[in-house]
Amino acid sequence: MIVRLAQLKDVQVIADIHVASWKTTYRGIVSEEYLDSLKVEDRQEMWKRVLSTENHPTTVFVVEEEDTVFGFAAVGKERTGKYPEIDGELYAIYLYENAQRKGGGKQLVAKAAEVLKEKGYHGLLVWVLDDNPAKRFYEEALNGEFLESVDIEIGGQSFKEAAYGWYSLDQFISR
Ligand SMILES: CC(C)(COP(=O)(O)OP(=O)(O)OC[C@H]1O[C@@H](n2cnc3c(N)ncnc32)[C@H](O)[C@@H]1OP(=O)(O)O)[C@@H](O)C(=O)NCCC(=O)NCCS
Repeated sequence: MIVRLAQLKDVQVIADIHVASWKTTYRGIVSEEYLDSLKVEDRQEMWKRVLSTENHPTTVFVVEEEDTVFGFAAVGKERTGKYPEIDGELYAIYLYENAQRKGGGKQLVAKAAEVLKEKGYHGLLVWVLDDNPAKRFYEEALNGEFLESVDIEIGGQSFKEAAYGWYSLDQFISR
């Protein structure tokens, strides 16, 4: 498998993965009604805006095997400004369900961390729903530090969302 920067031609598959992975990941957590309302076309527009803008502050990566993309990640500047050393953020990371737990997530994050470091960032933060089993990806596989938990709303329901952080991209990359 290889990880590379996403291009405009990847918009369709990124949007498809985004919606498909939301549905498989959050079914039983977020309401069916909300999940059913998610549209690939909306995500296409969103990712098209990002990928067609030169020097967009969000950087997107895809992971592929034999020219078939099965996952993506998006990173950029940390949004809260609460953690001065943790200036980078993993905004999204999604793989098709049948491609999970095969190392693609780790490779995406490794590449994203390298590129963030090249751009001058020092740390990394990610938000994950408390009920999402993928929390263990950040805790166990990537050794992230729990930072805080906040209440958020999705489709009219309340959820707890946890932030995990890495203060040093150098350390993160060398692991
Ligand atoms: C989370 C995600 C990006 C991780 O990528 P991945 O390719 O599946 O993970 P990797 O194979 O690189 O690493 C897996 C390791 O993480 C840890 N882990 C534990 N529970 C996990 C879980 N439910 N999902 C993923 N990783 C988990 C384990 O150490 C696991 O190793 P193992 O499979 O040998 O037990 C991917 O599973 C995914 O797209 N999940 C659904 C969408 C999602 O929740 N995204 C995150 C939103 S914040």
